[in-house]
Amino acid sequence: MLSDPKRYTITAALIYANGPIHIGHLAGCYLPADIYARYLRSKERDVIFISGTDEHGVPITIKAKKEGITPQQVVDKYYTQIKDSFNEFGISFDIYSRTSNKKHHEVASDYFTTLYNKGVFKEETTEQYFDAKANQFLADRYIVGTCPNCGNPNAYGDQCERCGTSLSPDELINPHSTLSGEQPIKKSTTNWNLPLDELQPKIEEYISEHPEWKTNVYGQCKSWLNQGLHPRAMTRDLDWGIKVPLPNAEGKVLYVWFDAPIGYITFTQELLGNNWEKYWKDKESKLVHFIGKDNIVFHCIIFPSMLMEHGDYILPDNVPANEFMNLEGDKISTSRNWAIWLHEYLQDFPGKQDVLRYVLTANAPENKDSDFTWKDFQARNNNELADNVGNFINRVITLIHKYYNGEIPSHGSWEDVDEELISTIINFPVKISESLETYRFREALSLVMDLSRAGNKYLGDAEPWKLIKTNPERVKTILYLASQLVANLAVVMEPFLPFTSDKIFKILNLPSLKWNKAGDVTLLAAGHVINQPEILFEKIEDKIIETQIQKLLNSKKENELANQTIEPQKEDVNFNDFEKIDIRIATIIAAEAVPKTKKLLKLTLDTGLDERTVVSGIAEYYNPEKIIGKQVCLLANLAPREIKGIMSQGMILMAEDKDGSLAFVSPEKIIGSGGVVK
Ligand code: MF3
Ligand code: ZN
Repeated sequence: MLSDPKRYTITAALIYANGPIHIGHLAGCYLPADIYARYLRSKERDVIFISGTDEHGVPITIKAKKEGITPQQVVDKYYTQIKDSFNEFGISFDIYSRTSNKKHHEVASDYFTTLYNKGVFKEETTEQYFDAKANQFLADRYIVGTCPNCGNPNAYGDQCERCGTSLSPDELINPHSTLSGEQPIKKSTTNWNLPLDELQPKIEEYISEHPEWKTNVYGQCKSWLNQGLHPRAMTRDLDWGIKVPLPNAEGKVLYVWFDAPIGYITFTQELLGNNWEKYWKDKESKLVHFIGKDNIVFHCIIFPSMLMEHGDYILPDNVPANEFMNLEGDKISTSRNWAIWLHEYLQDFPGKQDVLRYVLTANAPENKDSDFTWKDFQARNNNELADNVGNFINRVITLIHKYYNGEIPSHGSWEDVDEELISTIINFPVKISESLETYRFREALSLVMDLSRAGNKYLGDAEPWKLIKTNPERVKTILYLASQLVANLAVVMEPFLPFTSDKIFKILNLPSLKWNKAGDVTLLAAGHVINQPEILFEKIEDKIIETQIQKLLNSKKENELANQTIEPQKEDVNFNDFEKIDIRIATIIAAEAVPKTKKLLKLTLDTGLDERTVVSGIAEYYNPEKIIGKQVCLLANLAPREIKGIMSQGMILMAEDKDGSLAFVSPEKIIGSGGVVK
């Protein structure tokens, strides 16, 4: 572990540009990375924060097929949307670029050529799975099968998402093509492997130098090493990606997991021009990759191998991967639309970016999966942000306006309670720093909240609003010190809640202060004039939360419907058969529930021929009082039968929706009872 580095190179995973982003992405990777980068900038460290979109690989081409557009159109659409969402949430990348850029194609190609010339790759001709129908080799996500490790029937050709094992298509049990569903055949092809098996000792040494890594990360690495690393092809038979820069490699592209992490290097070059190298090659630079847990093997084993074999490069100092965030008890899923999309959140909660930043950090899946619920979101906003932070700051600002026209008072001598608060103000930034530097962001945030709580308690105990009548001098000291705490809070909350921090500095009429000012109780001079208070956090009402919950339930329902298949058509009948059926328009003249049943209504119908009784299983969908006078279609010549002791003469025709619900089939205009349906 590099302590006191000269500079920091911070990366956040290059997300596939094949869909919008949701809260899981933010919580898993981008928020912790942003908090870390903001903190280091506040400490006035030399830091670059790099990210962008991953625009190659099978996930992009699959999306293109699904939407009937080209892969380029897919990435163009989502790059902009993703970039805008990050920007709105204050994710402070120094550059947000994309791997389809020409520059990146050059850098990744050169990187491959360098390794090739060094003889790193092992050329290998093997039989690979091939979909004869789609005329395509089946790499990575084009092939699914059963995971040999955990039995997941939907493991991909490159990885099992259930147990995290990295796989090759050959390891899948009962493989089939995701393009056609067919069982693939084998066809011979040549590819270039990174011999991870041979590199294993070097990787082992590297990993063992980092016992300080998070246990989930270190543990996963150890488990792969224990299983023994396998060579992995760095090229693919695909037509979307970066062309393999070799003469005999027609129709082949670089493996997406080869080119994507090189994107971090390309984007640094785009950002800094000739000045980029020290961020990647100087031993005193600290390289930190923020990712989600499904990316661990690539950042801890494969990319470091590529860096080692190239020479020159430093290796990741840490890879603080998070686990996953679930939503209302269920795994977030793009395809099932079980997610909170950032662009939708922004529409529904304009200006409340910090609330989501807060909730996602306070509940971050740092060591185990966590669960986002709307009720928890509301409770944290109302009880923590509004009642703790908002309330404290608002009281201080309001009282200073009320008693001193917005001028910071001067203080008298300190009493014990003041000394205590002063030492809290001095000690907390150090503690918060310690947590941040060891990637414990939840803990760091809860310390910020504790600091605010200390302010609330100080005010609540001192009761300046009462004291103002008996001891106005003492009140000056209290509000002087409380205002210093407000300024301190604005400093230490900046990495987490940058929008709120900005607002507080504006209210305090101060420029934004850096971390070295934290712990200072003279940030606001006596006589300094502050601005009017502003509501920092509004309470969120129940009905707003209910709307969000309903939205999720609707998407669950829609998804269930979409998954239901339409009943196949029945066998042909001839017209004579059809003519045997006598369907009439009938009018309901009476209706009542059949006692002791949930589903049945007893209907009296005017059929034009007669008045008759029909028992119908529609009680779950129709209220008997509301259907009198309704016209329906009746299968009139169905042989009578007894249902619950009632003789039913015919059957009402109902249309069944995908969810099983029923609706009458009624004529489009009033038809005399007895009208024939033909
Ligand atoms: N595109 C990958 C994903 O979304 C992450 C790539 S990270 C990088 O899971 F290192 F390859 F860039
Ligand atoms: Zn598995």
